[in-house]
Amino acid sequence: MLYIGVDLGTSAVKLLLMNEKGEIRKIVSKDYPLFFPKPGWSEQNPEDWFIKSMEGIRELTAECEKEAVAGISFGGQMHGLVTLDSDDAVIRPAILWNDGRTGEETDYLNEVIGKDKLSQYTANIAFAGFTAPKLLWMKKHEPENFAKISKIMLPKDFLAYRLSGSFCTDVSDASGMLLMDVKRRCWSAEMMDICKVTKEQLPKLYESYEVVGTLKPEIAAQLGLSENVKIIAGAGDNAAAAVGTGTVGDGMCNISLGTSGTIFISSKSFGVDDNNALHSFAHADGKYHLMGCMLSAAACNKWWSEEILKTNDFEAEQAGISKLGENNVFYLPYLMGERSPHNNPDARAMFIGMTMDTTREDMTQAVLEGVTFALRDSLEVAKSLGIQIERTKICGGGAKSPLWKKMIANILNLKVDIPESEEGPALGGAMLAAVGCGEYPDVETAAKKLVKVVDTVEPEEELVAKYEEKYQKFKKIYPVVKELF
Ligand code: XUL
Repeated sequence: MLYIGVDLGTSAVKLLLMNEKGEIRKIVSKDYPLFFPKPGWSEQNPEDWFIKSMEGIRELTAECEKEAVAGISFGGQMHGLVTLDSDDAVIRPAILWNDGRTGEETDYLNEVIGKDKLSQYTANIAFAGFTAPKLLWMKKHEPENFAKISKIMLPKDFLAYRLSGSFCTDVSDASGMLLMDVKRRCWSAEMMDICKVTKEQLPKLYESYEVVGTLKPEIAAQLGLSENVKIIAGAGDNAAAAVGTGTVGDGMCNISLGTSGTIFISSKSFGVDDNNALHSFAHADGKYHLMGCMLSAAACNKWWSEEILKTNDFEAEQAGISKLGENNVFYLPYLMGERSPHNNPDARAMFIGMTMDTTREDMTQAVLEGVTFALRDSLEVAKSLGIQIERTKICGGGAKSPLWKKMIANILNLKVDIPESEEGPALGGAMLAAVGCGEYPDVETAAKKLVKVVDTVEPEEELVAKYEEKYQKFKKIYPVVKELF
């Protein structure tokens, strides 16, 4: 049997075809545009996601035995607000996870409703990228659009809806809406009331591995696939990536170096940190996880290389970097503001510490290190909760760089286990499809059977010590400059 995993990302949709043994048969990627209509705003057109996913599925399955395709599932960029009217037309462009327009609404939720109440209702507090503040923003700034809302969904759910007609979401992705009671895995009546939305406007909640429907006949015909192909709910991209790297069960860690950067800790039991600095979300394996999310991770390297240095040869750009732990240039990676742990949509990126002999390599190194130091900020929060982490998996585009993996190992002082494939969310999506189709009894069994670690990057004592000193300096920069933003 064959399973398709769709990773609906921010810069592209990646589609992966996997057989029942976990062998990856083909990967296809299709780009679509990302719009920044105002500083700090970030939008995409849901129709682009659908068109490119359809193109991608056709290309992915062009040479395979089409009758063997059994299921499709997803890992989707989280938190994005997609709204449809009563004719199922998209009302306005989707407002994405890294959009910072909702500062006022986030403050209203955290200060007026109050963090304690939010945490009691949802296990989380408000962050600018979450879905609930976006609904409040739309209600205030686009009341005519708000009045038209018939369906509210997350990005990957738009694909499931267009493919199957099922108005659904899954608990891992829905956790990031600030509308779900994470502990009980149901919609929060209080949050619906605060955001002035009804249960009818919200999708039906499923576990990530549950079947939500089958391909609509007209879609099946367009794809040349059977109408019996099952659509499985799927997960937020981080939970899907965790499945794809085998980060399931208790106390496992995964780092994703995609457009965003996340540190994800799986847990068999529900837990919330007292300050809500880490997100407390449902996991795709039926359990829970804690997560820190920085908004610009590999996005910083892409911006620095492509927009400033005018190259996309990342490998060549990193080839000359040799003095790890000795860089005097620091970089704050807050190109789109920052989520964890600062929760400040107005934070901005900066370089600091250059001298006349600073080189291009030093600047590139500072970018990679700055992102890694910022990930360490979230790791420190997890450690302060008494969580012990000695090793992590890694995935995402940034995980292709051996240099960056070495920085992760030494700045975070963790053993970094490298899975066979860095395609976390797409592979996780395909694995969820396999579980949904009954190929494996549960997600944990699928992960044990399918995910292989092929290498481990070990931290080196001397380098860890050098980076410890640098991190202590990095930590001091944001509090000093934050008044400027
Ligand atoms: C997680 C988050 C990002 C996006 C990226 O909370 O906002 O990781 O899911 O696609």
